[in-house]
Amino acid sequence: MVLKKIIIDTDPGIDDALAIMYAMKHPEIEILGITTVAGNKGLKTTTNNATKLSKYFGSKVKVYRGAHAKLDEIDKPEIDSNLTKDIHGVDGLGGVNLEKDDSLIQEKSAYDFILETINKYPNEVDIVTLGPLTNLAVCIEKDLETMKKVKSIHSMGGGVFSGNVSPVAEFNYWFDAKSVDIVYGKLGEYVPIYMVGLDVTRQGLIDFNDLKYMELVGGDLGKLVNDLVKDYINSYWKNNRVFGIVIHDLVAMVGYANNEIYKKVYNANLRCVYDSDVAYGQCIVDLVDSWKLPKNAYIPMEMDSKLYKYEINKVLFGESEAKEYRKIIGG
Ligand code: BDR
Ligand code: CA
Repeated sequence: MVLKKIIIDTDPGIDDALAIMYAMKHPEIEILGITTVAGNKGLKTTTNNATKLSKYFGSKVKVYRGAHAKLDEIDKPEIDSNLTKDIHGVDGLGGVNLEKDDSLIQEKSAYDFILETINKYPNEVDIVTLGPLTNLAVCIEKDLETMKKVKSIHSMGGGVFSGNVSPVAEFNYWFDAKSVDIVYGKLGEYVPIYMVGLDVTRQGLIDFNDLKYMELVGGDLGKLVNDLVKDYINSYWKNNRVFGIVIHDLVAMVGYANNEIYKKVYNANLRCVYDSDVAYGQCIVDLVDSWKLPKNAYIPMEMDSKLYKYEINKVLFGESEAKEYRKIIGG
């Protein structure tokens, strides 16, 4: 079996943690490295959290530090921000006690790691981004020709019809909107980039029955999933009056592993607004091709949520558990 080679670019984050867990358990995915970026937390915390996950799963995947701030502020001193403490908890992992492992953190930067890896395996490496796109924008500014040899990018972020930090902006793309515009604008014509935005992630609501089943059949892993999302559930209720959770980053990772969860995928030109206060971070997606500009994004808009759940259970807990649950919920 030829394994799918990926780099995970991330700012863990509870939903990042679940996406990384899924990738680490997936028999057909080979994680070449994890690159970290500031987003949910400052870079120090997101990097420590990445080592915790790598260590817990015994994968010993190495971790490379990337941008500590958005592109325009990268020359400023590093700060330990905590933008999403009400969602991901103070530590970013919902207070779950996992041990970090400094030995996994590499001297080499995320940028050098990404560019060297792409050159080592041209047209073979996929990048799944679960946080702001700053690291990719820096790589593009450094060496666009090498970045054109990325096989595909699956990026959780953005949204066509709504946002979650403003009416029009989603968190990852709002955090560094200019980098988003650079990534799609300079690379999207050459490399397939999937924008896994809120339109589709919100169709993957994980409800209390789904979580209970994981706890019942999943042993330590099922318990870990439930521990990680404990406070996330409360924040979902408090902030959105939603009964259950959307694990945004996990949708991007499952969709990367099995594209069939996406039912309707548009190919369109995408721009991200970074020069307006009101619309900062908004994705302008030309679904009707009014601009007649090159198409630079693939945008899933509909998802088979039952297949999504099946895939999660299959990879985390095994095929028979996944089939059993499918009998319960149908699909
Ligand atoms: C995205 O924002 C972050 O808080 C999550 O980790 C996810 O990547 C969802 O808008
Ligand atoms: Ca994230």
